[in-house]
Amino acid sequence: MVGTGPGSGKRDKGFYVTTPIYYVNDVPHIGHAYTTVAADVLARYRRLSGQDVLFVTGTDEHGKKIQRSAEERGIAPQALADEVVTKFKDAWKLLAIKNDVFIRTTEERHARVVSEVWAKMQARGDIYPGPYEGWYCTPDESYWTEKELVDGKCPSCGREVERIKEESYFFRLSKYQAPLLRHIEANEGFILPLSRRNEVLSFVKGGLNDLSITRMGFDWGIKVPGDPKLVIYVWLDALLNYLTAAGYLSDNGSFDAFWPPDVQFVGKDILKFHAVYWPAILMSAGLDLPKQIFAHGWWTIEGTKMSKSLGNVVSPSSLVSAYGTDATRYFLMREVPFGLDGNFSDAAMLKRINSDLANDLGNLLSRATGMVSRFAGSGLLPASGTSDQFDLVLQQKASALYDAYTTAMEGREFHSALTALWEFIGEANRYVDRTKPWQNAKAGDTERLNTRLYNTIEATRIAAVYLLPFMPDTASKILTALSQDTRGMTLGQLSKWGLAVPFVGIAPSQPLFEKRTEPRGQTDKENSNGLSASQAEQPAPQLVSIDEFKRTELKVGTILSAMRVEGSHKLIKLEVDIGEKRTIVAGIGRSYTPEELPGKRIIVVANLQPAHLFGILSQGMLLAAGDADHLGLLSLDRDVPNGTRIK
Ligand code: MSP
Repeated sequence: MVGTGPGSGKRDKGFYVTTPIYYVNDVPHIGHAYTTVAADVLARYRRLSGQDVLFVTGTDEHGKKIQRSAEERGIAPQALADEVVTKFKDAWKLLAIKNDVFIRTTEERHARVVSEVWAKMQARGDIYPGPYEGWYCTPDESYWTEKELVDGKCPSCGREVERIKEESYFFRLSKYQAPLLRHIEANEGFILPLSRRNEVLSFVKGGLNDLSITRMGFDWGIKVPGDPKLVIYVWLDALLNYLTAAGYLSDNGSFDAFWPPDVQFVGKDILKFHAVYWPAILMSAGLDLPKQIFAHGWWTIEGTKMSKSLGNVVSPSSLVSAYGTDATRYFLMREVPFGLDGNFSDAAMLKRINSDLANDLGNLLSRATGMVSRFAGSGLLPASGTSDQFDLVLQQKASALYDAYTTAMEGREFHSALTALWEFIGEANRYVDRTKPWQNAKAGDTERLNTRLYNTIEATRIAAVYLLPFMPDTASKILTALSQDTRGMTLGQLSKWGLAVPFVGIAPSQPLFEKRTEPRGQTDKENSNGLSASQAEQPAPQLVSIDEFKRTELKVGTILSAMRVEGSHKLIKLEVDIGEKRTIVAGIGRSYTPEELPGKRIIVVANLQPAHLFGILSQGMLLAAGDADHLGLLSLDRDVPNGTRIK
């Protein structure tokens, strides 16, 4: 991560990208996943381009809202944070997020940074005491004036606000109105998209009031230096995470190598905090401003606003368990132009999987590898012979892709980068359709055949290289199938035509993506990895090979204990013995009571990816058949020891 140290000033500055830090009163959802995947894609792209990258995400753990949630659950705020932070970390693992630092605002190193910045702002004469009287929205942790309220409610989220009147310290935000305006006007790319920049410009032009930066009457936060009855406003605390995470005040060289941030991704709802308060705070503390704040849009779910009360919250783990990591990442980046609002639907997801992934991408790989094994005799990739018009056009499209892709990535137009890549994949498929290498094989025209085989593989390799930031696992699978090692090389080198090493073995590959017609089942939505009844009744959509079947480890087990999962009608938490002890959360609660389960012999999928369901780590799945109210558990008709593998 830290490739450049202090004093090594010759190298370029590293690339620093951040996500917002997420409140720990809520579990991860598609909105959090969106920003985090986008930042991960950009970080991977920059690493692939040869740059040192610092990619930071984390959790926002202080404030009234977290304290209140913890009180409602009857636990300490730190305990709530400790519980929920693992859900974020688990979700990011499921989505293959490779962040360099995970920051929590309750860490000691962060408290030091907050006090230090406070002292700097104070030394500049930017902090003064005074009474605050006005409105406060706790869900948004945001102050509002009487005039700003809409029908007496929070103008941002529409929820109830509270009247507060308390002793406070203020930040002289008004002093930074003119310098901030100058900065935004002089730097076109500072706030993006441009429509958002215009919103911020008119907000700043409208005048900036000084900002209350403390709260009193509760203690879940960082205390004001020298006045410990007051707590520092959670947004000031939270924004400073970007300094702490970069290594501010630490002596590991990271801060010098990476500050200021190159891109800070935020949702449109928190733009004011990042594009107005944050730069003003940095100016006051005498620190460089981020180069870019990029605000993305919001997802609706099947056309409706996502909300806990509507019960339509889409969790990253439900997407990954139903559709897989890479398909989820692809969908989020491809479906909606980054910056605009978008809509999630299972139907749209299925369409992307079936047409873009299974058809376009999957077909290209299986044709490329299939043709080599069928026509190249040795099964080795032949070297290319002379090129004709078809070959030259394909090569030319491959080199044009570099500009289209990198320009889109630099402009944070992830959907355009993928569109350009898919145009190329389409081109490569058409190359095969038009050149019909099987006819060369039949006619014994080996030189032409070899050129076609090489070029089809080469186009597939290049597509995989561009796919690396978006779908890291799929891209690696493709490169492995083509026996091409990309380690240590940059995008500039890897995207050059002709890099594929010939005379390597190419085996016919397994399909990358199965076509599917079934959307996420109810079980996925409940976040369960138990068997969904509708899936159990469906005929297999495609044939599986014996090897594919064998990858699933089915084992004999015995249920040791069972209890209902609080808050769910359907889920039961089981302790089972499958030669080792496992916890399994199963969706069988409408067919079985916990009392009748202990002692039952069952069949368990032992190598299923673990998932958190209602906060419990489920490490497997039971086999059952029937609908949710009439499930029958699969069992054996003879006694076989626990842990025996089914074959
Ligand atoms: N803790 C603050 C951020 C502090 S950053 C110094 C916060 N946290 S949050 O957990 O409420 O939300 C974080 C992000 O999720 C925001 O960027 C917000 O825009 C995003 N989203 C919440 N719902 C969303 C959608 N439905 N769609 C897309 N993003 C959404 O705010």
